[in-house]
Amino acid sequence: MALSTVDRSAGIAVLARHEVRDLPRYQSGAPSPDILARWKIAELARLASNENLIGPSPRVREALLAILDDVHRYPDPNCTDLRIELAARHRVPPERIVVGNGSEDIIEMLCKAFLSATDRVVTLAPAFGLHEIFPRMMGAEVHKVPVTSAWQFDVPAISAALERPAKMLLLSTPSNPVGCELSDADVQRLDAACRAETIFVLDEAYHEYSGDDRGADRRATLESMDRPWIVLRTLSKAYGLAGLRVGYGIASDAEVVALLDRVRTPFNVNLAAQVAAIAALRDESHLRAVVAATGSERTWMMASLGRLQREVPALQVAASAANFLFIDTGRNGKAVARQLATDGVVVKPWMDTGFANCIRVTVGPRSANERFVRHFGDIVRRPAS
Ligand SMILES: Cc1ncc(COP(=O)(O)O)c(C=O)c1O
Repeated sequence: MALSTVDRSAGIAVLARHEVRDLPRYQSGAPSPDILARWKIAELARLASNENLIGPSPRVREALLAILDDVHRYPDPNCTDLRIELAARHRVPPERIVVGNGSEDIIEMLCKAFLSATDRVVTLAPAFGLHEIFPRMMGAEVHKVPVTSAWQFDVPAISAALERPAKMLLLSTPSNPVGCELSDADVQRLDAACRAETIFVLDEAYHEYSGDDRGADRRATLESMDRPWIVLRTLSKAYGLAGLRVGYGIASDAEVVALLDRVRTPFNVNLAAQVAAIAALRDESHLRAVVAATGSERTWMMASLGRLQREVPALQVAASAANFLFIDTGRNGKAVARQLATDGVVVKPWMDTGFANCIRVTVGPRSANERFVRHFGDIVRRPAS
């Protein structure tokens, strides 16, 4: 349809693909303009985006200073050094590594490369927004399987959903927003439930926080699978590089990466992101410090919320293996988040159907966590309006 023949009163949206017109917006968790107008950034307790509570390794700063005279050059389109670094860590050839402008870039590439309007994707409810938005952008049907009442993956229900043909199984573990984990046995059961044509995608954005070896066990199971699969990781969370945007995938074989290469933008990972990622990966003691600090803050928050729960039994907090907690507040989550924001505490209310009472709160530094617990306590002790 030519623009001149478009009925202007219907708006430009009529020119867009209907999948795009109907697409839900991603809720970024960024503070709203009215909150920013009221508070200085430094005064906000920013607990909505699962950012790192300490920040990146000091080596990242050095790496960034060293490239300041090179920014007029395009970055390496193949992320050669970074892929070599990652390949050595994960004991795979570099051809099996894909790097993205954040791991969300790789989720988008996967959807562009593999999904079309006749395809079906199975994922979780509640889900990370982009696990639904990118498949729907391609016109695929998204089947969301709710977690159990104990906030765990419902493996039998996911297996049942996989009985109908699905092009992709897309799960995060630890899951965002709940924080539950898939065991190695779960992965084996899900593999057995998938048809031959199902691509198995495990989004492990929070893997480093989980503090056990399940990731390694799962990798061994994935390696034994007779299907395409990919594990996604990010430098945004435990490595503290959210602002630079770099994530990666370890794929079952080089052919998956070659297909993703066809749909990715050629210079998708900028120079700063490439050098910072290498520096961050090499500082393992900083990573250990971040994971330990997050673990002890998570324990502190769980204990504080446990005490609050004795006063307010309607509260439910899911056990989490990640740097956030998912809380059923027993009242409208959006209203709770709005009230917290007036006190400068930014958390993320959840929008998935059936989870409207829930909020997700990042495990931040102690001062922010204390502010959250104090104000949240004040809100939920009052009768719901
Ligand atoms: C489960 C999950 N996957 C992927 C991402 C995207 O991370 P990034 O694009 O910053 O690597 C996030 C970010 O919050 C996430 O929670």
